[in-house]
Amino acid sequence: SAPSPSPPMVERPATVDDLPWWARGIIYQIYPRSFQDSDGDGVGDLPGILSRLDYLVELGVDAVWLSPIYPSPMADFGYDVSDYTDIHPMFGNMADFDCLLAAAHERGLKLILDFVPNHTSEEHPWFQEARSSRDNPKRDWYIWHDPAPDGGPPNNWLSEFGGSAWEWDEATGQYYYHAFLKQQPDLNWRNPEVVRAMHDVLRFWLDRGVDGFRVDVIWHLIVDDRFRDNPPNLDWRPGMHPHGRFKPIYTADRPEVHDVVAGIRRVIDEYGDRVLIGEIYLPIERLVAYYGTDLSGAHMPFNFQLIDAPWDARHIARLIEEYEAALPEGGWPNWVLGNHDKHRIASRIGRAQARVAAMLLLTLRGTPTMYYGDELGMTDVPIPPERVVDPLEKNVPGIGIGRDPARTPMQWSAGRNAGFSTAERTWLPLADNHAVFNVETESADPSSMLSLYRRLIALRRSEPALIAGSYVAVAAEDDALAYIRQLGDRRLLVVLDLGSRPYGLPLPNGFERGRILLSTHADRTGEPVDGEIVLRADEGVIIEPASGA
Ligand code: GLC
Ligand code: MG
Repeated sequence: SAPSPSPPMVERPATVDDLPWWARGIIYQIYPRSFQDSDGDGVGDLPGILSRLDYLVELGVDAVWLSPIYPSPMADFGYDVSDYTDIHPMFGNMADFDCLLAAAHERGLKLILDFVPNHTSEEHPWFQEARSSRDNPKRDWYIWHDPAPDGGPPNNWLSEFGGSAWEWDEATGQYYYHAFLKQQPDLNWRNPEVVRAMHDVLRFWLDRGVDGFRVDVIWHLIVDDRFRDNPPNLDWRPGMHPHGRFKPIYTADRPEVHDVVAGIRRVIDEYGDRVLIGEIYLPIERLVAYYGTDLSGAHMPFNFQLIDAPWDARHIARLIEEYEAALPEGGWPNWVLGNHDKHRIASRIGRAQARVAAMLLLTLRGTPTMYYGDELGMTDVPIPPERVVDPLEKNVPGIGIGRDPARTPMQWSAGRNAGFSTAERTWLPLADNHAVFNVETESADPSSMLSLYRRLIALRRSEPALIAGSYVAVAAEDDALAYIRQLGDRRLLVVLDLGSRPYGLPLPNGFERGRILLSTHADRTGEPVDGEIVLRADEGVIIEPASGA
């Protein structure tokens, strides 16, 4: 494909058409193991996803991001890749993939793949070669180190998944570094051959027509080349995640990582109109550095602030404003409420507030990313001990960081296995309440979470102010959070009650006489407001000024 420049990006676009697709649209994350099983093995697959594309079109999302679908021994459920340019047989084959991509494109949906560049599987041929001898040409593709003088690991670096980040390799008498499982050795991105090989992986999929990548743990790609010990974290206490014992200043967010990101971005830009999204858990001021100097980095460094934030109006108002203020000139914002690594939003803040969160996500300035099933109000599913499969929960048990509960099968119907699979037993158990919370049942109920999501998405799509408009803070007091989205003359007021008590708020200038466009409670559409808006507990509303205002 002919190189073409990245689409223009302007801070306050005049119209929605000035924005690239990924800034206009809504991204929907699918965890492929759990979306739809087509062959009855109890695990979701590509033909399953294909059969559900029309659901996504009807929901109104624009792009689908698939968690990894590549060959993998599944030590970390696909985030341990043993071949970057093929499909795991459990998910289907390359023909299934091409079919899915074509079908998505026919429907106007974009397809984003997960790129896992920080580490391979230990079963990847590159690592097999690397560990075969110290002088193997691929040895330096990974991060090896001699033992400390006492024979132990070279330094105090810890794995995110518990224990030392160093694994002893008996055969060659050195340790290798793994930020995650020992089955996930870290690649050495200081080696130009690794860079070339991984860039070619990107080109392989871009040539096939994918619309971009979500890049796994992009802030981890470089570690200190002097292997200095991480300093202790004085806030850490026993019972917290063991990885938090040290501050990871030498193992993540290193200054050199930005060159690596820019290199990946240049490959993306060879193709034009594709998107680069980075998975990054950092405070706002560090996060925005991943847009890169002169926007040479990720188009969208994932903004997870809402996942970690306490659900408090003042706190959230402040973080929105801090984020807006920290964005570089021309950098496009984005917001995420949930993903396959975190507790589901409806469990974190309750199902009633999850409706308010949906309104927040879909009315903020910036690309929203949704996690499959959140649109149904799916909650974390308690996993009986004998059915736990997440390696994180197995290695670091009992402190509530296990990820299985948020990865359970999508709930399509009240039928067997919620319509997800015909298998005797699905890879993770179904939620007990799937007879109530599922696509079929909720579609028929105008007050369901799914109906709310459909209305919110439809409104966002039809209101350029919600996509391209500026964000204007109005109020953050007690449980109320209010802001305006404004594009040209069009102004919309969003008022959210983040608590479980009713709340009255005087209407700001221009909205004194207005009309409710949409309420989380489904029953107030068209209701006129005058002077004040009184929200019921857990309610959010979107208000337009009375015509002419
Ligand atoms: C990312 C993924 C997570 C995975 C880890 C290691 O955080 O989202 O699921 O376990 O990277 O690849
Ligand atoms: Mg299957």
